[in-house]
Amino acid sequence: MTNDGRKRTSNTSLLAWVDEIAAMCKPDGIHWCDGSQMEYDQLCEEMVQSGTFTRLNPHRRPNCFLARSHPSDVARVEERTFICSQKQEDAGPTNNWMEPEGMKQILRKNFSGCMRGRTLYIIPFSMGPLGSPVAQIGIQITDSPYVVVNMRIMTRMGQAVLDQLGSDFFIRCLHSVGAPLSPDQKDVPWPCEGNIGNKFISHFPETREIWSYGSGYGGNALLGKKCLALRIGSVMARDQGWLAEHMLILGLQSPDGKKTYVAAAFPSACGKTNLAMIVPPKELEGWKASTIGDDIAWVKPAPDNTLRAINPEAGFFGVAPGTSYDSNPIAMDTIKKNSIFTNVALTDDGDVWWEGMGPAPAHVIDWKGNDWTPGMDHPAAHPNSRFTAPASQCPTIDPAWEDPQGVPISAFIFGGRLSKSFPLVYESFDWKHGVFMAATMGSEATAAAIGQAAIRRDPFAMLPFAGYHMADYWQHWLNMETKGYRLPKIFRVNWFRKDADGKFIWPGYGQNMRAIKWIIDRVNGNASAEQTPIGQVPRYEDIVWAGLDFKPEKFRSVMDVERKDLLSEAQELTQFFRKFGNRLPAEMEKQRKAFQERVEKTM
Ligand code: OXD
Ligand code: MN
Repeated sequence: MTNDGRKRTSNTSLLAWVDEIAAMCKPDGIHWCDGSQMEYDQLCEEMVQSGTFTRLNPHRRPNCFLARSHPSDVARVEERTFICSQKQEDAGPTNNWMEPEGMKQILRKNFSGCMRGRTLYIIPFSMGPLGSPVAQIGIQITDSPYVVVNMRIMTRMGQAVLDQLGSDFFIRCLHSVGAPLSPDQKDVPWPCEGNIGNKFISHFPETREIWSYGSGYGGNALLGKKCLALRIGSVMARDQGWLAEHMLILGLQSPDGKKTYVAAAFPSACGKTNLAMIVPPKELEGWKASTIGDDIAWVKPAPDNTLRAINPEAGFFGVAPGTSYDSNPIAMDTIKKNSIFTNVALTDDGDVWWEGMGPAPAHVIDWKGNDWTPGMDHPAAHPNSRFTAPASQCPTIDPAWEDPQGVPISAFIFGGRLSKSFPLVYESFDWKHGVFMAATMGSEATAAAIGQAAIRRDPFAMLPFAGYHMADYWQHWLNMETKGYRLPKIFRVNWFRKDADGKFIWPGYGQNMRAIKWIIDRVNGNASAEQTPIGQVPRYEDIVWAGLDFKPEKFRSVMDVERKDLLSEAQELTQFFRKFGNRLPAEMEKQRKAFQERVEKTM
């Protein structure tokens, strides 16, 4: 599918950029995406013909497709992700860095002729509702039709974006799967660069550019998501005084009809999509939850001094395994139609299946395209297999999810995966302490990381996503306090405490609403808390227990923390902070010391 779209825009820098990239990449044809249903349908059909897509049973999953990636291209490649700021120290110790001109020289070599035998697609997209003062427009050039159709679900995409853009600035997002075809070479279902060393997910923060080469999967290729909305977005947020965060946004309505919005950051694989779509237990009568976003929040100060958040995305790119009518019925209903599934298993009746969805069928085709039966030594769906689904199909989508002004955030919640030492839920003493709590969050090291510190830090769940020096990012958060905004309260949660037998104590999922309700009550001045060295915690009677058998002893086992564990945490943080050298805000060490002293004096 090709067309001449030059008449669709009079943006001369866009037209010049397309010419420049086409001259470098040498595609066989060019297609300007209009974002229409017809275009989407046609591209999907072309991918069915080429073998990239399998059409699912239209009675079971109408208008849904399955893609199987190459087994070497199944996840984000953090080791090949670069922040190419002019100065190395601006990328900081947690990012890979290369000098921008040096990186571009390598990339230009890779991109030379890389689209031979393929079509170059131009995808105009808006992160955020079209025309919202918070939204940003990007143009992605790609040679992957799979990327085009995914971007149509994940962003607002097409001609309307070009019309909105006019002759203004846009973020340049260049992408190629890195698999040119010679004239008589047959294509494969999932083309990509086979050599990991040739893959590059490169960001140029000063010029707001993204160049991604060699992968067709997820955040490596759908450049609006992690690359634009978080890495470049965080740099723009720093420069312009707002926040680009790895957070879900959730609305909670109390029985008396009051709506409170919270934004929550968790590292990957901590159930963010589940929390974004939480179903409150029926015993919390009258409480309703609604979804704004499941992965990214752009938070900007509004004229009334509240911080208002939008979800810059328009779809969910969720991890499939573990998603079921028990764990997340809302997601299951969201993906009933018009969705793309990648690397899940195909059932004999043309539907999808994955581990944790329910009983295994007697036979499926696994994510690599092979026969699979229960009991085999490998999973049928890849652990990072995904669904791409329109947010508008989410049954609990919040009526304000496309409000161009965003929704006012009353609480920031941070969580990790920790089997001990950190309570189920607690509140910071103040903003600075909250920033300290978020900066030091993390998850327990797995067996693969034995010998390292006990906790792998993932500050603000932004470790792979902050586009600049992590310590400067903390300072940016600290600075928010000095501007006179009505700041949200800050909380930490930990759903993952384990008992002596290694079993999770807290039931999780919908029951997390009990902790969230305490958070909402705190925000609205309706609940008390106890002061402890770690922060402000609920007492047993501050949480509603109706419908859940959770005795005070059990509550203590998800709340209590031991002196020795906290002291070793304070000790570990000394090491952790050292990494940030003289860019570490003095406030962080001050908070660490104060934490240690509270433990020493009062426990
Ligand atoms: C994601 C991630 O895919 O955080 O959302 O890794
Ligand atoms: Mn994420």
